[in-house]
Amino acid sequence: MNVAIIGTGYVGLPTGCGLADFGNKVVCIDKDLKKIEQLNSGKSTIYEDGLDDLLKKVIDSGMIHFTASMEEGIPNADLVILAVGTPMHPITGLADLGYIKAAAKELAPLLSGYTVVATKSTVPVGTGDIVESIIKETNPDADVDVISMPEFLREGYAVNDFYFPDRIVVGTNSEKARKVIEELYEPMKNYQPEDKRTKMLFVDRKSSEVIKYASNAFLAVKIHFINEMADFCEASGANVLDVAKGMGLDSRIGPKFLNPGPGYGGSCFPKDTNAIYHLAKSLDVDMTLIGDAINGNNERIKDMAGRILFNAPLRNPKIAILGLAFKNGTDDCRESPAMDIVKYLLDSGAELTVYDPKAMGTAKTLLAEGSVKYANDVWECVDGAECVAILTEWDEFRSIDLETLANLVEKKTIVDLRNLLSKKEAEAHGFKYLGIGV
Ligand code: UGA
Repeated sequence: MNVAIIGTGYVGLPTGCGLADFGNKVVCIDKDLKKIEQLNSGKSTIYEDGLDDLLKKVIDSGMIHFTASMEEGIPNADLVILAVGTPMHPITGLADLGYIKAAAKELAPLLSGYTVVATKSTVPVGTGDIVESIIKETNPDADVDVISMPEFLREGYAVNDFYFPDRIVVGTNSEKARKVIEELYEPMKNYQPEDKRTKMLFVDRKSSEVIKYASNAFLAVKIHFINEMADFCEASGANVLDVAKGMGLDSRIGPKFLNPGPGYGGSCFPKDTNAIYHLAKSLDVDMTLIGDAINGNNERIKDMAGRILFNAPLRNPKIAILGLAFKNGTDDCRESPAMDIVKYLLDSGAELTVYDPKAMGTAKTLLAEGSVKYANDVWECVDGAECVAILTEWDEFRSIDLETLANLVEKKTIVDLRNLLSKKEAEAHGFKYLGIGV
């Protein structure tokens, strides 16, 4: 099948490579010429586990091509996938559909023969109707089915999630479009054991759009819940790790997304919770639970910065920051609680040395020049520190050698906002250790 994907970000690129590996002829389209050049040379523009190898494989096989020109990809496409950004509008809090609308307008006159146009970007309910009307207005003769096909990839695990997703949700009432999507994912069975095949769920377009927001909002609320429970455990003397374990054994609750931390971040949860909350408000529905998670998460990030400062020397403390990405496995610092905490600490006069295994490059583009010292590794980062703060859940920090750490730091204080280290062991090495809810 010929597939065109518009947008080569964290969704479009892994999806494009995966579909090419399934044997589809894929054209990835992006306006950023620098990106296109780099991708055609076989170098990924984002860090994702396994993506470099997959990209090389599909370029070598000739099944993928990157271009800035819609004319190269759209006319031959049986399926066009929209994977452009839907950033949060700074004033309304709603998802900004500017890129989606522009893409729909630009692709419409180029459509030829029956084509399915699928929206993979996270979009508010009703976006399919908007895309459809833009295409129909621009090209009334287009033989097109506009469907919703939300993406559930997690950053850092995108390649794995492409081959082994929990579910594939498709929003369409068209039998013809359904057949196209079934054919698209047919090769997936070659990668999955028979008893673990991914389920495909076909629903109407609007329900599919809501499934995506509802899933992200639910997970964000779950994290907010365990963060509040961590505060409660701290105040009452319980251990949130044991509490989460005990809760997670209930199959109705499940053990995932019960890790307390500095608050959820990334390009999805903060944006999507705001988008559904504000969209609901505009429809006279008050989603108080999601509203509480949004406010609570924002407050939490400030509280966590306060917790670090409270445990560091009063004046211009030298603080080692371990972790800048919004979570492990990615170089993405968008809406990263770690980056927000760094900014609060800087505003309070702290002297920061920072280190992240993958996100140093992206962090540099977001922090003012000269505002922090960048270390090449953990040891350079903690050397002479008066407080060590762990902000991202990288495995590298989990296995930190406490003996070496104790010898390098100026003051033995660890504020571990991801509960990566054992309190008992840290204390045995003479550290004052503060985790979350433990
Ligand atoms: C999220 C969803 O998990 C994906 O299913 C979805 O496709 C994606 O958004 C999207 O909409 O594109 P992602 O943003 O990559 O994926 O990150 P998550 O792994 O969900 O983590 C989000 C945040 O929650 C991170 O800051 C992470 O550290 C935090 N988190 C996660 C916790 O604090 N505790 C947990 O137990 C789990």
